[in-house]
Amino acid sequence: MRLFGLIGYPLSHSFSKKYFTEKFTKERIADAAYELFELQDINAFPQLLASQPQLRGLNVTIPHKVNVIPFLGRVEEAATRIGAVNVIKVLSNGQTIGYNSDYFGFQDSLINWFTQLHGEAGREKLFKLKALILGSGGASKAVRTALDDLGIVNHIVSREAANGLTYDQLDASTMAQYPLVINSTPLGMSPHTEAFPPFPYHLAGPNHYFYDLVYNPVETVFMQKGRAQGAATLNGLPMLHLQAEKSWEIWNS
Ligand SMILES: NC(=O)c1ccc[n+]([C@@H]2O[C@H](COP(=O)([O-])OP(=O)(O)OC[C@H]3O[C@@H](n4cnc5c(N)ncnc54)[C@H](OP(=O)(O)O)[C@@H]3O)[C@@H](O)[C@H]2O)c1
Repeated sequence: MRLFGLIGYPLSHSFSKKYFTEKFTKERIADAAYELFELQDINAFPQLLASQPQLRGLNVTIPHKVNVIPFLGRVEEAATRIGAVNVIKVLSNGQTIGYNSDYFGFQDSLINWFTQLHGEAGREKLFKLKALILGSGGASKAVRTALDDLGIVNHIVSREAANGLTYDQLDASTMAQYPLVINSTPLGMSPHTEAFPPFPYHLAGPNHYFYDLVYNPVETVFMQKGRAQGAATLNGLPMLHLQAEKSWEIWNS
């Protein structure tokens, strides 16, 4: 039996456990199980590995995406640049390697979206766009690194001037130059579905693309406001599924 699981604290609502348990049943993967490992203190991580010799892979969530890094044998290059790990591969000799699957999930979902919207020309169209990333937290860092690696010029928009542009600096000229807008803040996530980033929506138009990393609800207020201006919109569900599948690929590679 190969064991997989999620570390974080607290772990009340886990997408991953449901996703992988259903996947193992649906795809008749009989030799795998997925469990939650609530870890309040990351110093307990080596003990967890020692006590679970069948462990072959972990997902990592808040608050351990950064502080697990010193405990890993190696961290893959993109995850090192992002400074956060959300997938760990555990080799049979106990060696550990850290990855960031949000990076891959975001890149793949973005390219798929543009291909769906514009066919084969979608990729080229996307690579010419400039992007604004709302928020400067962990997800924002993965998005930024993914965009950098696609050659897409981007800027962070933050409440703090020290982190990038501030929301009140976004004028008509900036909005026209940056058609791709990515919400990397938690604003709008259930149960606070009425919240949305303080963005100048009235300056958006049909040339804009509003991508929300929030995956619940299916259509956030951020997306509704973009759609009302004629912008194309996408929510975070495709990314969520792609990053989970990337974990599986990493654990089985
Ligand atoms: N779809 C997926 O697969 C996927 C993957 C990862 C994350 N996510 C989602 O992405 C969102 C962000 O995740 P995260 O871990 O980066 O979250 P986070 O660290 O809690 O927050 C990200 C940033 O959002 C901004 N922010 C927070 N509260 C705000 C407020 N009240 N008003 C304005 N800005 C605010 C802050 O940036 P400033 O201080 O710079 O303003 C903060 O650094 C979450 O909803 C998460 O569920 C989705």
